[in-house]
Amino acid sequence: DTLISKIDVDNIDMEEIKKQAEILRAGETVIFPTETVYGLGANALDEEAVSKIYKAKGRPSDNPLIVHIGDKKQVYNLVQSVTKEAEIVMDKFWPGPITIILNKKDIIPKRTSGGLDTVAIRMPSNKIANALIKEANIPIAAPSANISGRPSPTRAKHVYEEMNHRVSGIIMGNDCVYGLESTVLDLTGEIPTILRPGSITKEQLEKELGNVQLDAALEKKEDNIKAKAPGMKYTHYSPNAEVYIVSGEQTNVIDKINTLTEENNGKNLKTCVICLKCNEKQYIGKTICLGETLEDVASNLFDALIQADEEKCDIIYSESFTNEGIGCAIMNRLLKSAGYKIIGA
Ligand code: TXA
Ligand code: MG
Repeated sequence: DTLISKIDVDNIDMEEIKKQAEILRAGETVIFPTETVYGLGANALDEEAVSKIYKAKGRPSDNPLIVHIGDKKQVYNLVQSVTKEAEIVMDKFWPGPITIILNKKDIIPKRTSGGLDTVAIRMPSNKIANALIKEANIPIAAPSANISGRPSPTRAKHVYEEMNHRVSGIIMGNDCVYGLESTVLDLTGEIPTILRPGSITKEQLEKELGNVQLDAALEKKEDNIKAKAPGMKYTHYSPNAEVYIVSGEQTNVIDKINTLTEENNGKNLKTCVICLKCNEKQYIGKTICLGETLEDVASNLFDALIQADEEKCDIIYSESFTNEGIGCAIMNRLLKSAGYKIIGA
C-alpha cells in the first residue's frame, strides 16, 4: 500500500518526513514536491531501487535520472571533479531549479546514469524536498512523477490521481512554484551547454559564466533524435487532447482560434484555449487561463494541459510566447506537447 503524507511547506511535520525517508532508505520509491515539479524518488546509489522508478513511470531505461542532494558538499562524493563553472553555478543558483552534469564517480550506478559516464545533479530549494533528502541521508534519483510521456505534475492532486498504488510513498505538498522542470546544464565540455531550458535562463547563466550555448537540438523546430539529453528525444508532455500552438499578431490569433473553435463545434469536437488572462474574454469557447506574467505561464502550463484532459477536451489551442528568458523553457515544453504543430495566424 502507498503511504500518503499531507505536508504543508510552512509547517513541516517531521514525523511524516521520517516515515517517508525510512521508505527511501529501505530501497522503495517516494514521490515528493520540489520547486519545479513533483519528483519520483529512490536511492540513487541502489540499482534495484532505481529500477523501481523506471517501472513505476514506464520509462525507457536509457533515459538517465537526476540525482538530488540535500547539501552542496555531497557533490564532491558523486563526481570526478567539480569544475570552476560548477562551483559558480552551485554558489549562485543552489539550492534551486538548475541541474549540472559532470563526470561521475563509480559510486553512481549505470542504472542511474542511463549507461553514461556522466551524472546530473541538483539541490532543490523546496523545504519538504530538502528535509526528506537530509533525513534519508542518501542521494535521491528522481525524474518527474508522471507516467512517461504525460505532462509533469505540479499539483499534489494530479500526482495522487496518476501515481497512487504505483509507488510506496507520496508526499502531498503545496503547488510547485516554478512549474517547469529544472534547467539542465552540461559542464563536461569546453562551453557550458544547456540541454534543457528551465527557469534559470541562458541570460542569467551568461552573466555568471560568460559564453553559454544551447544544445544544437534545441534550436531545431522539430524533435531531434540526436538530442544530447537522452530524455529530450521521447514524446513528452502529451495530454490526451491534440495540442496546437497558434502564432501571429494577437488579434489574428484570437480570430483564427475562434474560427477553428466554430468549425470544431460543428464536428462535435470539444475545444479548449489556453491563454493569458488579458485575452481570456475574447475567445468564444472554453478557456483555461495561464495567468498574467511569463512566470505565471510557466507555473500553470502543465496544470492547464492536465485540466484540459479532465474536461475531456479533444483539441487544445495555445497562444504562443516569446523565446526570450523563461519563454525559451515555456516554448520548449509547449512545442513538445504540441508535437511541433504550429498554426500560423
Ligand atoms: O526539475 C527537475 O529537474 C525534476 C525534479 C523532480 O527535480 N526532475 C526531472 O527529471 O525533470 P527528468 O528525469 O524528468 O528529466 C531529467 C532530464 C532528462 O531529459 C535526461 O535525459 C537529462 O535530464 N539527463 C539526466 N542525466 C543526464 C546526463 N548524464 N547527461 C545528459 N542528460 C541527462
Ligand atoms: Mg520528465
